[in-house]
Amino acid sequence: MTSSPSIGVRMAGVGSAVPDRILANADFEKMMDTSDEWIRQRTGIRERRVVAQDKGEGTISLSVEALSKALDDAGMVAKDLDLIILASVTTTMTCPSGACIVSQQLGAEPAAAFDLVAACSGFVYASNVADSLIRSGRHKAVGVIGCDTMSTVMDYDDRSVSILFGDAAGAMVLTADEDPNRGCIYQRLHADGNGWHSLYMPRKEVDVVDGAAGANIKLGNLRMNGREIYKFAVSKFTELLKESLAQCDLSVEDIRQYICHQSNARIIESAVSKLNLPEDRVYVNIDRFGNSSAGSVGLCLDQLWQADKIDAGDLIMLIAFGGGMTWASGIWRV
Ligand code: UT7
Repeated sequence: MTSSPSIGVRMAGVGSAVPDRILANADFEKMMDTSDEWIRQRTGIRERRVVAQDKGEGTISLSVEALSKALDDAGMVAKDLDLIILASVTTTMTCPSGACIVSQQLGAEPAAAFDLVAACSGFVYASNVADSLIRSGRHKAVGVIGCDTMSTVMDYDDRSVSILFGDAAGAMVLTADEDPNRGCIYQRLHADGNGWHSLYMPRKEVDVVDGAAGANIKLGNLRMNGREIYKFAVSKFTELLKESLAQCDLSVEDIRQYICHQSNARIIESAVSKLNLPEDRVYVNIDRFGNSSAGSVGLCLDQLWQADKIDAGDLIMLIAFGGGMTWASGIWRV
């Protein structure tokens, strides 16, 4: 779990993309029986971004934009990449992978390309995997994207789920570095399929395991047992964060930025208070962007990166949990 001997990994560039269209709590008040006050109190969200599907926006367009910005930031071009990993649960097709389409649109061939499905943990999963592949010596420059357009799989008649989610992409370009102490110095990937039905997207009626027979279940849309996930998240989030620090013999102050999946502001606040994390080091943007699933961690990373709140040599932690159930962390020396 700790890093390997001779090759390090550099975060060479970071980028993100969000759609222009804003869906505010006031818009939900017009669509369903809810209130701005309920949404803010229970989730911390004021507004979220949603793609304009009629204009061709979606997971691919946001992913292409985010990775393209990360490449610019790194001073590289798509042809410099030898692998693209796209973490998403909202690609339009499973074959070909979304990563292949992103590669085609950016002109990255013959770089390898694959999708990775770990729901909201996707960006952390993908960046940990990319770090390991670079350290193995098999890849030298990897484009990692976390992107979800949750609005495209949302049942806007379901008030307990739809108010939570938004659309975003975050990306980074990772390259081999001669300093082995650079990159992901500690990582954990976890999954427990026993809780899969707490968050899933049924394609066919036989997939549906909850809900009354004959209920109006919209196939293809996200179904979520919010209370179950909330309990799972609060315990796993704190446990994983504590364990990751302990395994590296680090104190909470050693980490410059905790970059957490933006699931619900209350879940993040609970970890902050249980572990006494310095509040100014726990970035929160859920108020403006909602929960963008695999997009959230990369979006936060990019906003901190562009604001010069991460410097070379800093230790940062990426941490997330989500459907599967999955949960993952990575401590990076930038
Ligand atoms: O990213 C990883 C995946 N997802 C998550 O991390 C989500 C984790 N869970 C959550 O964030 C929360 O469970 C939610 C925000 C989704 C829901 O909050 P909650 O406090 O768990 O609400 P609840 O589902 O237990 O519902 C409480 C009450 C219910 O009314 P009754 O039965 O007490 O009368 C709901 O019908 O709130 C009602 N309710 C709403 N009321 C107004 C549910 N949604 C709404 C709404 N507006 N939008």
